[in-house]
Amino acid sequence: MSAGLFVVFEGGDGVGKTTQLKRLSDALQSAGREVVVTREPGGTALGHQLRQLILHGDHVAPRAEALLYAADRAHHIETLVRPALARGAVVLQDRYIDSSIVYQGGARGLGDQVERISRWATGDLLPDVTIVLDMEPDPSRMARDLDRVEGETSRQADKIRRGFLMLAQRDPARYAVVDAARPEGEVFHDVFSAVRDAIRRAREAGASQGAPTSPTPPSPVTP
Ligand code: TYD
Repeated sequence: MSAGLFVVFEGGDGVGKTTQLKRLSDALQSAGREVVVTREPGGTALGHQLRQLILHGDHVAPRAEALLYAADRAHHIETLVRPALARGAVVLQDRYIDSSIVYQGGARGLGDQVERISRWATGDLLPDVTIVLDMEPDPSRMARDLDRVEGETSRQADKIRRGFLMLAQRDPARYAVVDAARPEGEVFHDVFSAVRDAIRRAREAGASQGAPTSPTPPSPVTP
């Protein structure tokens, strides 16, 4: 077990992940934690280039696209996320393996292999908690001029939403499903309490395994 905490945000496009990540980062930093905010695709110099290719480049064959996400992930986890966790940081990450399962495996129809490839790519590193920001897809968003991937996937927004909810049901202890269709402060209240629970669980697990105790968790911050 690492000393840090790995928190992932998932959900459909436009559910407010970036806003919640920022608020959570500010709250944890004020409580004295080192926080690393990152995202997939992206997060490293290589990831930034892959992001440009996947999201803003020409058509990419679905299997190639799945492998590019996995390549980004492999590099990101090994060079940025694992070192941050090892030194005790809280990593707040926008999207991870579940996005590939839902978008490439489900929406693009590539199936179960997608999860296997990502698990191999990351050496099976799983988040301490995955926060699924859930809301009904916004129809006006689908009409807007979106980037290439979003344009294709927005038509499948319902399927994507159900995909994340199914993953959360599969392993409820590691997930928090948060209703994101509410005012930002209310959403953050639930996000913060899910992270506080995860910090507590990680400390208890660390103590029972005799692992070094992680740095002091944040004192309760009123969201
Ligand atoms: P993101 O930057 O999170 O966009 P948004 O803030 O609008 O949600 O994600 C960009 C797109 O990349 C998004 O449409 C989902 C897609 N994506 C995948 O299809 N598979 C993946 O494994 C990841 C990480 C993202």
